[in-house]
Amino acid sequence: MIIFVGSATFVNLVIGGALTYSTVRYMESPNFCGTACHVMAPEHMAYQVGSHAQVKCVECHIGEGAGNFIRAKLNGTRQLYLILAGSYSRPIPSPPHALKPASETCENCHSRNHDFGNKLWRRTQFADNGDRLETALMLNLGGAEGKGIHGAHMGRGLKIDYEAADAKRDKILGLRVTKGGQVTEFATSDFSSGKVKSSFRRHMDCLDCHNRPAHEFELPDRAVDKAMTEGLLPQTIPFFRKAALEVLGGKYASHAEAEKLLPAQLVGYYQKNQPGVLNTHKAELEKASLFLLTLYQRNVSPEMKVTWGTYPQHLGHTDSPGCFRCHGDELKPKTQGKAITQDCDACHKVIGVEEKDLKALQELGGL
Ligand code: HEC
Ligand code: HEC
Ligand code: HEC
Ligand code: HEC
Ligand code: HEC
Repeated sequence: MIIFVGSATFVNLVIGGALTYSTVRYMESPNFCGTACHVMAPEHMAYQVGSHAQVKCVECHIGEGAGNFIRAKLNGTRQLYLILAGSYSRPIPSPPHALKPASETCENCHSRNHDFGNKLWRRTQFADNGDRLETALMLNLGGAEGKGIHGAHMGRGLKIDYEAADAKRDKILGLRVTKGGQVTEFATSDFSSGKVKSSFRRHMDCLDCHNRPAHEFELPDRAVDKAMTEGLLPQTIPFFRKAALEVLGGKYASHAEAEKLLPAQLVGYYQKNQPGVLNTHKAELEKASLFLLTLYQRNVSPEMKVTWGTYPQHLGHTDSPGCFRCHGDELKPKTQGKAITQDCDACHKVIGVEEKDLKALQELGGL
């Protein structure tokens, strides 16, 4: 009897342990987060084509250790209740809950002291007449010893703390820079006079610039230009970019409705405006319309009220204030001193903006 009970208990423990282990493993997989929980479908779609598609959601959102795991599961239970009651926010606010410091996430894989030096940055756009327009910059990325874009915010002995209007961090109200024991403070006039209050404080790190590292949503013009550059959408069909942007800007009640209506809209555009082009390029346009549907479904989710531009990216200053949330005249130094630089050359050398034959790029090897 003792041998029987002993061995049965042993077998039970092994099976139970393995089940618990595999359940926990499953609950930590991006598949679970992105599909079992349909409200995260927009992030899951964008995540699969990002540069961190192999980094699990939990590695950035939960962090390591039992404490983080239990906190996340309790939070998950509360969210499950909201989903069952149908009372969750659409779109999901960004960030969804406390933003982990980069030292517990990004810095597990990337070193903050790595010196990237200069980086060639480029963007290709297409004009309505099919011209290819190039923009190129040499970003002063730097990293080591306080130099360049990386070093200026994360160098040794440097600390930047800020206060923002809310957790979205798109309106920065006050800043405190501690450098070698010396403190400099900046604030907007409304914040200094007490007219506006802050409700969010944070120590600046990677996530204040790289706020969409894993699930970046694109804007329609950038998405179309990129796909045209990569040859995923046609480059030579007249008015293609214009037509594509009109179709992507259409209103569809759901992904299913977009699947039914969107491809026909592209053909409809040409039928109405350029019937001659439709005759000669029908097959190519039909194929392209399916790719436009993919772009739409990857970036827009009517069910979750996520549309083009809902989740901006803070890396630059063209599509959202980005760097200019802090750089510029709005944040004034509290004592004497200068505002944080707006000098183009501090961040990048502009090689060319929307130019047709950008010689410098051609010299770099016909890029
Ligand atoms: C490399 C790190 C990283 C990974 C991996 C990651 N996220 Fe995120 N996620 C973030 C950051 C940072 C934010 C906050 C964005 C902001 O504040 O602008 C965020 C925000 C979110 C939000 C809030 C809404 C939004 O889009 O801002 C949801 C929902 C979300 N993530 C789900 C997921 C899911 C699901 C996965 C896996 C399929 C995942 N995340 C993987 C870093 C990550
Ligand atoms: C588990 C390891 C891991 C973690 C955690 C991680 N990364 Fe990465 N990251 C990588 C790898 C590997 C690459 C190279 C991917 C490639 O080249 O395809 C990369 C590439 C990048 C790139 C260049 C590609 C791009 O998308 O522009 C940036 C920027 C970046 N990571 C930022 C971050 C930030 C910010 C975080 C924290 C939110 C982070 N990473 C977290 C492993 C990681
Ligand atoms: C002040 C803003 C800012 C901060 C803070 C910042 N980065 Fe960056 N980082 C940039 C910019 C801008 C680029 C260039 C982006 C591009 O090429 O489009 C970049 C590029 C990168 C790249 C890609 C380099 C390459 O060769 O392509 C990696 C990796 C990266 N950052 C990681 C990090 C990590 C990790 C942190 C935190 C320790 C961090 N960054 C903090 C602005 C920042
Ligand atoms: C605080 C740093 C900073 C300053 C100051 C700055 N830029 Fe930039 N700029 C950037 C970064 C970073 C990017 C790249 C964005 C990205 O990675 O997507 C950029 C991108 C650009 C682009 C390409 C935009 C696009 O997406 O096509 C142009 C053009 C540009 N900057 C012009 C200027 C000019 C002109 C000035 C001076 C009036 C200036 N910038 C000042 C940081 C800066
Ligand atoms: C949260 C506020 C904040 C944001 C956002 C921010 N910066 Fe800064 N940046 C600062 C502060 C503060 C300094 C001055 C640090 C010092 O005094 O050493 C600075 C300094 C710099 C410098 C050094 C300037 C010089 O005179 O040498 C560069 C380059 C720079 N930032 C680039 C960027 C880029 C590029 C972005 C956007 C991708 C960006 N910053 C976003 C706060 C910010």
